[in-house]
Amino acid sequence: NEVRLSDYRPPDWLVPTVALDVRLDVDRTLVTSRLTVTRNGDHRRPLRLDGQDLETRRILVDGAPVEAVPNGEELVLAIPGDSAVVEIEVAIAPRTNTRLMGLYGSDDLLVTQCEAEGFRRITWFPDRPDVLSLYTVRLEGDAAQFPILLSNGDRGAAETLDGGRHAVTWTDPWPKPSYLFAMVGGQLAALRDEFVTMNGRRVELAIWTAAADVGRCSHAMAALKASMDWDERIYGREYDLDQFNIVAVSDFNAGAMENKGLNVFNSKYILADSETATDADFDAVAGVVAHEYFHNWTGNRVTCRDWFQLSLKEGLTVFRDQQFSADQGSAAVRRIDDVRALRAVQFPEDAGPHAHPIRPDHYVEIGNFYTATVYNKGAEVIRMLHTLLGRDGFRRGTDLYFERHDGQAVTCEDWVAAMEAATGRNLTQFRRWYDQAGTPTVTVHMARAGRQLTVNLAQSLAATPGQPSKAMMHMPFRLALIGRDSGRRIGDERLVELTAGETRLVFEDLDEPVLLSLNRGFSAPVKVVAPASRADLAFLAGADDDPFARWEAMQRLSLDVLATDDDPHELVDAIAATLADGAAGRLDPAFVGEAVLLPTEAFIGDQASVVDVESIHRRREAARAAIAAVLEPQWWQAWHWHSGTGTALNAGAKGARRLANVALAYLVTAGSAEALAAARQQYDGAATMTDRIGALSALINTDTPERDACLADFYDRFAGNGDVIDKWFTVQALSTRADTLEQVQVLLRHKDFTLHNPNRLRALVGAFAANQRRFHAADGSGYRLLADQLLAVDRINPQSAARLAVPLGRWQRFDAGRGALMQAQLQRIAGTAGVSKDVMEMATRALA
Ligand code: ARG
Ligand code: ZN
Repeated sequence: NEVRLSDYRPPDWLVPTVALDVRLDVDRTLVTSRLTVTRNGDHRRPLRLDGQDLETRRILVDGAPVEAVPNGEELVLAIPGDSAVVEIEVAIAPRTNTRLMGLYGSDDLLVTQCEAEGFRRITWFPDRPDVLSLYTVRLEGDAAQFPILLSNGDRGAAETLDGGRHAVTWTDPWPKPSYLFAMVGGQLAALRDEFVTMNGRRVELAIWTAAADVGRCSHAMAALKASMDWDERIYGREYDLDQFNIVAVSDFNAGAMENKGLNVFNSKYILADSETATDADFDAVAGVVAHEYFHNWTGNRVTCRDWFQLSLKEGLTVFRDQQFSADQGSAAVRRIDDVRALRAVQFPEDAGPHAHPIRPDHYVEIGNFYTATVYNKGAEVIRMLHTLLGRDGFRRGTDLYFERHDGQAVTCEDWVAAMEAATGRNLTQFRRWYDQAGTPTVTVHMARAGRQLTVNLAQSLAATPGQPSKAMMHMPFRLALIGRDSGRRIGDERLVELTAGETRLVFEDLDEPVLLSLNRGFSAPVKVVAPASRADLAFLAGADDDPFARWEAMQRLSLDVLATDDDPHELVDAIAATLADGAAGRLDPAFVGEAVLLPTEAFIGDQASVVDVESIHRRREAARAAIAAVLEPQWWQAWHWHSGTGTALNAGAKGARRLANVALAYLVTAGSAEALAAARQQYDGAATMTDRIGALSALINTDTPERDACLADFYDRFAGNGDVIDKWFTVQALSTRADTLEQVQVLLRHKDFTLHNPNRLRALVGAFAANQRRFHAADGSGYRLLADQLLAVDRINPQSAARLAVPLGRWQRFDAGRGALMQAQLQRIAGTAGVSKDVMEMATRALA
């Protein structure tokens, strides 16, 4: 049941056209498909179609009924000639489709999700991305229940039918794989707008949601228009239909889906207003809207040959959405956030039993490979190409890629080959990023002799599952020298291409001692090991002229201090200096808010060979208390200056709110009555969700009447708004209080908790598993809770369940006692009868 990249064969049959006739009904939807099929190549093999949970009613080949019977999830049709018309009628049951793949119900809507293999849950089809078809879709349904009927492409004829029914026909002029098919039916209202493309095409834009939420779509609409404009300016890519529709739904496995001309979104990434969405939520909305829009070229016009190539579209599209977001606001803070996310999720993946290259070469369930490695490390690989080839070279490469492959289903190799052909660069060694899993380490040594400095950079890559030995990588590594006396950069930044095991650099004529500013901008997705004293790190934290490297110096200093029981005075001083730079206007508050945040307990744990849960927590809390107490006046100052910024969404206001929340958290940690009153005041007077949830988060670890009052108010205030109630669950699941596990158990029985909604599951159970101190309770109670929920969800939604296995897979990283308890839960999961293949793959790989 394992699929291997090396087994790839082109499809035996192509399907140039598909006509679907769908009669929508919540309990029993009838789907009639009419496929023209043509033999592909010189062979006599039958037509094999994929199907899952279909009730097959009728099969006709060239108009004649055939007696074929599906064999499980396969239907084999013998076709004598080289082409035929295949007509199949099936019935499907959206109401009981709890997997949220194929056609399912969400609130009162019927909606589809097909990527990766959901189309087979709608009708029999060669459900693979290298079969591209022209679709015509007729949707029919009750006019009152389904007044709006949407599918891909352009809206065509509408029919009014007897019995209060109606129908609409959609035609998509662009050939597409089945995973990009979509349809939606229901009562929806739209926020409408339009965009005129660079060649004058007038595009009707609509974002569809429940009528009550239309007013919360304007941020998404603005982001959509900005994305359309940006892709024209930066990549020369123009939209190619007269309509672009987005639908927001409450129940969705992923963030969103780029179906051609009909994006479907998790409502969390569309609906936003300052009452209900944090600044981070606003940014996420814009980022995901851009991501799905950019897929129109990187994913849809040029698609993937097979699912091993997933990073071809996802890595590239994440890189594009990151570039877009950096252009919209503070590029430095965006980069820091992106690196923080990569390190929090992808580095552990690369260091654990689920490690895989950005182009995996085998899988059991492709749904398990929508990972931070494929997406985020994939984006880093594209970013390295951008760095190596330069902006213009990269653009010539994308132009050639689109010119060569428009309308095709291609591979990562085709992408790299286009980059090579457009620029004349040899990327042979660079290709290893597609094959080798694991995070490389670059170890840096320097030696000073008089006015000369020699820097030695050594790369290494540890073994990962299935890859015992590794070859050297090709990576762009940006570095510079910072004068230890002057605090200035000495000479130009260098872009060094590391290709060998060791690279030696020599700098001459230096007049002062220097420090190294390494991997500037995080130019390579690697770990850097470089000896540096705390004093030197503190100096760089105040002097490095690359914002990422400056932030990184503070992180390294924090990690160094937090790895010991030393008094954290060096850290306190560095934070004081950063706050002073902020107060004097030398640093913007968003950067200050980033720089003064301590690394998370999880990230501290990632640095050690064995995660010591209790010590990490104790030391970090002790440092927090010291930072809070010593700098209390500075935190008050930061809070007073930066709170109450209203609802503006510019980078300055967002940065100010961020810093105010960090300050408030420290003030509450210091524990004065004034601080609790300030938190209460910020909560009650909040103009934005950022302010309100910031105050609640500051209070959540305390045992105070303020905490209880704000928590209760928050629920009452936002009852019925799912995306906000998710925050209420999460903030409690992340509390460091000793009673957190108990509270999570209470919340699992709350009337608003349901395993059916992926957002709610992530908000409570996913968040709790990220609470290092409380999830990793020494008695294994956290692990048991997670496994219980995983097994319960697996019966409903295997894709959601499989994701919950990831935290247990990290058992080797913990002490023997915890490791054994985590393994025991994995064994229990793997030994449970009837467990899905999604979960089975995750559990067995975690145990291997
Ligand atoms: N292609 C979608 C996106 O990145 C995500 C699809 C998720 N599918 C899945 N099986 N998890 O925008
Ligand atoms: Zn994507």
